[in-house]
Amino acid sequence: MKKVIITGANGQLGKDLVELIDTSVFEVSAFIKSELDITNERAVQTIVNSIQPDWILHAAAYTNVEAAEDEGKEQNWLVNATGTEVIAKAAKTVNAKMIYVSTDYVFDGTKETPYETTDAVNPLNEYGKAKLAGEKAVQEVLGEDGFVIRTSWVFGIHGHNFVYTMLKLSETRNELKVVSDQLGRPTFSEDLAHFMWFIVNQNVRGGIYHFSNDDVCSWNTFAREILKEKQTVIHECTSDEFPQKALRPKHSILDLTSAKKIDYDIPTWSNALERFKNQISG
Ligand SMILES: NC(=O)c1ccc[n+]([C@@H]2O[C@H](COP(=O)([O-])OP(=O)(O)OC[C@H]3O[C@@H](n4cnc5c(N)ncnc54)[C@H](OP(=O)(O)O)[C@@H]3O)[C@@H](O)[C@H]2O)c1
Repeated sequence: MKKVIITGANGQLGKDLVELIDTSVFEVSAFIKSELDITNERAVQTIVNSIQPDWILHAAAYTNVEAAEDEGKEQNWLVNATGTEVIAKAAKTVNAKMIYVSTDYVFDGTKETPYETTDAVNPLNEYGKAKLAGEKAVQEVLGEDGFVIRTSWVFGIHGHNFVYTMLKLSETRNELKVVSDQLGRPTFSEDLAHFMWFIVNQNVRGGIYHFSNDDVCSWNTFAREILKEKQTVIHECTSDEFPQKALRPKHSILDLTSAKKIDYDIPTWSNALERFKNQISG
């Protein structure tokens, strides 16, 4: 039986991966942070040696983009850059393939058309810089056995995300202001998990892929769709009205050709949101 290791198994994506994988076909070893801290090189190597995985699905990450600018700066680099390199090196020692999940924040958002996998990177914030360093480590250490999937605006059933924030706010607020000058593509973590699993099961080449749900929106449009059954009125505003420590790309639309080229059928974000809502209400 083939073997797979999942890191960060308590996160939005990690939990979806654990739920998705058919354990009658794959032997799955999923680790939450307290069981495997990816920054502990010796612990990682010991586990990888004993399991001898065919694949490592690396879902562990430091994801607090704001804190990464100051109090979480060191941890951001330790987990997203160094920790990813530790995983890649361990994968190399047992000839395992590895999927690393990266971010649209590797781009600066100045391109007016969707970002292709080959476009120049220029991260604006510490999180994007550390995730990019993780990408480089995966590619340098693993070459063709390394897969980098850049994704954006992730929302999942298990986790803290924009969709839950909007739903929560609508319980107490009649009106909300949501920025309309940042464009991107939301990603349902279940669909991302499904795409990762598709990669494991198809004999596709390593390298950089972009994956999000299809169609483009602003945070404002996304919020309107999230709350369309509620009474809350949503107003447009610009990102200048909500100053944040970490700069974000204004236009971070990922070009999805790399995923479509391997015959993956990508659902739209509104379809994904509907499935999300059905699950949380059912
Ligand atoms: N969320 C987004 O909007 C977004 C956008 C673009 C890309 N991504 C990328 O997508 C991937 C999945 O994100 P997500 O939303 O699922 O993140 P998440 O919910 O924050 O999950 C990350 C998991 O990694 C764990 N972790 C942190 N440090 C660790 C360490 N040293 N060792 C082992 N585990 C550790 C966290 O545990 P604790 O919670 O206990 O710290 C958490 O369970 C990440 O690579 C992220 O960078 C996310």
